[in-house]
Amino acid sequence: MLRLGVNIDHVATVRNARGSAYPDPVRAAKLAEEAGADGITAHLREDRRHIADADIDALMEALSVPLNFEMAATDEMQAIALCHKPHAVCIVPEKREERTTEGGLEVAREENKLAHFIAPLREAGCRVSIFIAADQAQIEAANRIGAQVIELHTGAYCDFHYEGRFEERDAELVRLTEMAGFAHSLGLEVHAGHGLTYETVGPIAALPELMELNIGHFLIGESIFRGLQPAIAEMRRLMDEARR
Ligand code: PXP
Repeated sequence: MLRLGVNIDHVATVRNARGSAYPDPVRAAKLAEEAGADGITAHLREDRRHIADADIDALMEALSVPLNFEMAATDEMQAIALCHKPHAVCIVPEKREERTTEGGLEVAREENKLAHFIAPLREAGCRVSIFIAADQAQIEAANRIGAQVIELHTGAYCDFHYEGRFEERDAELVRLTEMAGFAHSLGLEVHAGHGLTYETVGPIAALPELMELNIGHFLIGESIFRGLQPAIAEMRRLMDEARR
């Protein structure tokens, strides 16, 4: 089965826009669980622009489904992850000036550093996932450093779709398809995410090697119109339909 991880970062974005106590991302996470989310994803950024440290504490306490803790490869985040020992950690590149995680992690050039960085996380029992572009050299490097999972960045595929650049979109889909197969052949568990919507999820969900999709921004936006649980249920339906 293809798992759906719901990213609740942008509930915290709305909260933080007013510096208020609401809307509460933990409440959203519990509703997402009830609506069929198989996991909850939260990204604690260095600048704490959305998720805060206290949200991670509360999520660890409240969740019945696994938490996928997204983090940059910094000592601060490693210490937080080792304190909580979430089910999974997903290592992402992070730049302060970016609006969202713009590209995949550069694993190939940072192999030694990353291998040392993830070793204690693995020893603590976390499943280590590396967020990367659909690029063979990056996948090989992620495999060599001992990651159990890779998450393929679907941002470019989604951007091309919405910009009407359909040839480039389709070429990116071919790359994602080939690299999902390649990573799987190495024994890596393959996830995907970033920018996925009702319009773009189908061809990605149909890739047979994928085990999990992580989806956030679109679902939180769509929940304004449908409510969070119906928004998630529709995504689940589209994923299941694509799998069939
Ligand atoms: N996967 C990873 C590794 C991410 O960094 C993000 C964004 O935080 C997502 C999935 C979800 O992307 P989106 O919010 O665009 O659905």
